[in-house]
Amino acid sequence: MSEEPLVLGIETSCDETGVGVVRGEKLLVDAIASSVDEHARFGGVVPEVASRAHVEAMIPTLERALTGANVALGDLDAIAVTCGPGLAGTLMVGVAAAKALTLALGIPLYGVNHLAAHVAVDIVEHGPLPEPVLALLVSGGHSSLLLVPDVTDDVRPLGATIDDAAGEAFDKVARVLGLPFPGGPHIDRAAREGQITIDFPRGLTTGRDLERHRFDFSFSGLKTAVARWVEAERQAGRDVPVADVAASFQEAVVDVLTRKAIRAAKEHGVADLQIGGGVAANSRLRALAQDRADAAGIRLRVPRPALCTDNGAMVAALGAQLVAKGRSPSGLDLPADSSLPVTLAHVPDQIG
Ligand code: KG4
Ligand code: ZN
Repeated sequence: MSEEPLVLGIETSCDETGVGVVRGEKLLVDAIASSVDEHARFGGVVPEVASRAHVEAMIPTLERALTGANVALGDLDAIAVTCGPGLAGTLMVGVAAAKALTLALGIPLYGVNHLAAHVAVDIVEHGPLPEPVLALLVSGGHSSLLLVPDVTDDVRPLGATIDDAAGEAFDKVARVLGLPFPGGPHIDRAAREGQITIDFPRGLTTGRDLERHRFDFSFSGLKTAVARWVEAERQAGRDVPVADVAASFQEAVVDVLTRKAIRAAKEHGVADLQIGGGVAANSRLRALAQDRADAAGIRLRVPRPALCTDNGAMVAALGAQLVAKGRSPSGLDLPADSSLPVTLAHVPDQIG
């Protein structure tokens, strides 16, 4: 390979059909089709609806990506695809598409971990990842703290949510407040007009809870506390101050996330913190993380919001790293694994 590897990445783990193209550490294109509007009236992603939307969007999104990157299929050196974790039916669409393309083109296939890809995407934004980097991964399905010595094959979980993911909590609280799905961006926006007037609980941050769950998160108690508070206001015949509730809830979430992330970085002697996943698009999380990282002497890296939510660029970014580091490709028997463990950054050929 004379030039750096040209890798196409396919993402279908939830409701975004993403196709990205990366050359080495440079992002050429990030094409997205989302079925989010089709799920809004159900208040959450409906797997069958999402799967069918992926089937319909795959070819047009692929074509858009190739045109945008100004490359032909025949130019590609490899194809990477999210093979887990995620919704089984939606993952299968992406994996099948990637297998068909690699078989037809005679190029390697890399089945990659969605979570590691959320970390790797920052390479196309801010350059090579420091090794190690401490990653806070906050999305609709996951809230994890990861120690990452090498995003291609050494990802160590330090803690995770023991109940709801951070994004799930945003979505559920938005529903309580009568805001549309997905709720995160709406709460973010509403909170800018409000004040932090209510002291909502911070789960697993004190006493024995903290001892036992030093780097774990819990958001279900917070969600219930918000629902009870809102209900009490309604029963008392008062108008719910949506902006203030949004600001107070959001503050409780981002306070815990940033506090634990900074503590994990300090205790593990890691000087760089990276934040990824859909919730990393949150403006208050970005601001508070920057303040606290500055105060602790830790460097912070957060990709632009469009690269924080699910996309194909992140898959291509991790794929390009795997190619560059000479990791072995996946076999054509690569399964879609809805509960792929975070410790497996990619799934090499089992038979060899
Ligand atoms: O990473 P992502 O696109 O998909 C998953 O892998 O889950 O994350 C989606 C989640 C949703 O729960 C959404 O409400 C949340 O990210 N989100 C936000 C914001 N933008 C998206 N949460 C808080 N503030 C935002 N600005
Ligand atoms: Zn995600």
